[in-house]
Amino acid sequence: MEKIFENNKKWVAEKLAQDENYFANLAKGQQPRYLFIGCADSRVPANEITGSAPGEMFVHRNIANMVVHTDINLLSVLQYAVEVLKVKDVIVCGHYGCGGVAAAAGNNQFGLIDNWLRNIKDVVRLHEDEIFSIEDEEQRLRRLVELNVMEQVHNLSKTSIIQNALKGDNPPKLHGLVYDLKEGLLRDLKVDINSFKRYEHIYNLTAETV
Ligand code: CO
Repeated sequence: MEKIFENNKKWVAEKLAQDENYFANLAKGQQPRYLFIGCADSRVPANEITGSAPGEMFVHRNIANMVVHTDINLLSVLQYAVEVLKVKDVIVCGHYGCGGVAAAAGNNQFGLIDNWLRNIKDVVRLHEDEIFSIEDEEQRLRRLVELNVMEQVHNLSKTSIIQNALKGDNPPKLHGLVYDLKEGLLRDLKVDINSFKRYEHIYNLTAETV
């Protein structure tokens, strides 16, 4: 723990050397443009991979970047970000090599976490034909990571929070990204909510994505 406090003091000194009002200005409030929903994986630090400074990005992370309709934590973050902070972009960011996705793709028990991974197993079932047609295991898991991100963007668009935001001015745009641990690069999956239009009679999907 000593290391953490030492690093923190060094960081404060560096920031103040660049701008003596750095912390005073940040303390006044936040107006982040982005909400980032990412994996809790220690190798995917939201601010660092996007070059975002403190104050620019509201962040929610959980195992395998899931948008689960009964997750009061995610829903609270989403509501606050959309309705109060009025973020312009909501990003779901997955990553290749995701342990949560890999665990969900098999039938081993891992304990309580199985209840969470269950949501990813539903993604496997929804895209069973495509996923099991890929013979190479690494490629299969990479595709599952992408499909999981796409499903979570769809889940986002179905929340009452996003549905209501669409009735107002300047609703946020929804994006699905994937991060490659081996290269450090982010890729836009260009998730198209309109591809799910045929379910509109039950979901009322009208979210805009770019
Ligand atoms: Co992960």
